[in-house]
Amino acid sequence: MKALVLKSADGPASASLEEVETPTPSPGEVAVRVQGASLNHRELWISRGLYPGMALPTVLGADGAGTVVGVGDGLDWGLVGKEVVLYPGLGWGNSERFPAPGFGLLGMPGPGTIAETICVPAENAVSKPAHLSFVEAAALPVAALTAYRALNVKGGLSAGQRVLVTGVGGGVATFGLLFAKAMGATVYVTSGSDETLQKARDLGAADGFNYRDEQWGKKLRAAAGAIDVVLDGAPAAGFAQYARSLAIGARVVLYGSTGGAAFSANAPDLFLRHASIVGTAMGSPADFSDMLRLVETHGIRPVIDRQFAFQDAHGALLHLEKGHAFGKVVIDIGPR
Ligand SMILES: NC(=O)c1ccc[n+]([C@@H]2O[C@H](COP(=O)([O-])OP(=O)(O)OC[C@H]3O[C@@H](n4cnc5c(N)ncnc54)[C@H](OP(=O)(O)O)[C@@H]3O)[C@@H](O)[C@H]2O)c1
Repeated sequence: MKALVLKSADGPASASLEEVETPTPSPGEVAVRVQGASLNHRELWISRGLYPGMALPTVLGADGAGTVVGVGDGLDWGLVGKEVVLYPGLGWGNSERFPAPGFGLLGMPGPGTIAETICVPAENAVSKPAHLSFVEAAALPVAALTAYRALNVKGGLSAGQRVLVTGVGGGVATFGLLFAKAMGATVYVTSGSDETLQKARDLGAADGFNYRDEQWGKKLRAAAGAIDVVLDGAPAAGFAQYARSLAIGARVVLYGSTGGAAFSANAPDLFLRHASIVGTAMGSPADFSDMLRLVETHGIRPVIDRQFAFQDAHGALLHLEKGHAFGKVVIDIGPR
């Protein structure tokens, strides 16, 4: 079969479409003919060797959707033909609060989704929302799961509350906007692009602020008042701007460190507001099912920045590296 293989850790240029052996399912696994995949920043870091437990060569990709075409020993052949989207985690464990040690994702160190076939534990192959194409469903796993757990489980968001989503052009952030809207929140966003801010307003954001404007925090305060939940993948750039807009009891949920790992906080901004800062990463299989239910109930479709053909999977990686406009970069692996 063909797959996007990373042979060395010299950046995205070291990935190419290669012929590799088609995997066969071990006991308890299903073989999935992958029909759509999508990219995350993780693939860029892996391509540069910036990931724990690197093992090369490997097939890239944590996000995928497709059809079950085979089952390993112990599984029902009735699964064949099931249309699925893949839970991207391996070994979350028994606690809903955090993953077990050794929790990992498809696509490093084991094989990933940007391939014609992948074998995964049967429980990772979850029914695809019927209203989504394979490529749309493949946009969901890592980014939508992260956004869902951040808002719902960590942020405790409820209808009628105000949410701030920073860097709304990003994959996780775009889902954050869609999910918070679906949950009945009023959503404010930031972006470095006025065009992206307008697209976010078109998707239902109440207002948007360009984070290149040094006054954006004041403008947010004037327009939105107090914010109950912040979904932030770039705290070094934004925390000081929005800290004084936090509502009493606000939850700041951090999922990334775009623009720098360290940030400083003015303690009274937090303790006088009874505010909390929490971190999140990915989510449990139960979070994944709950996220898919939200997507189905509200007929949510992911925002696709750009779609690439499988033959140009390497081009998709280069496009992600250049920085993108709005939403997810997806790869159509096709029906075959
Ligand atoms: N914790 C997890 O489980 C998890 C999962 C996925 C990703 N992540 C992390 O989350 C971050 C974003 O991931 P992603 O896949 O959503 O990335 P992405 O799609 O590449 O988006 C990155 C976005 O960051 C925004 N940004 C850049 N500079 C910013 C600034 N100064 N202030 C606010 N936003 C800024 C940009 O938004 P605009 O285009 O609107 O300017 C850009 O679109 C990365 O650090 C990634 O590693 C974490």
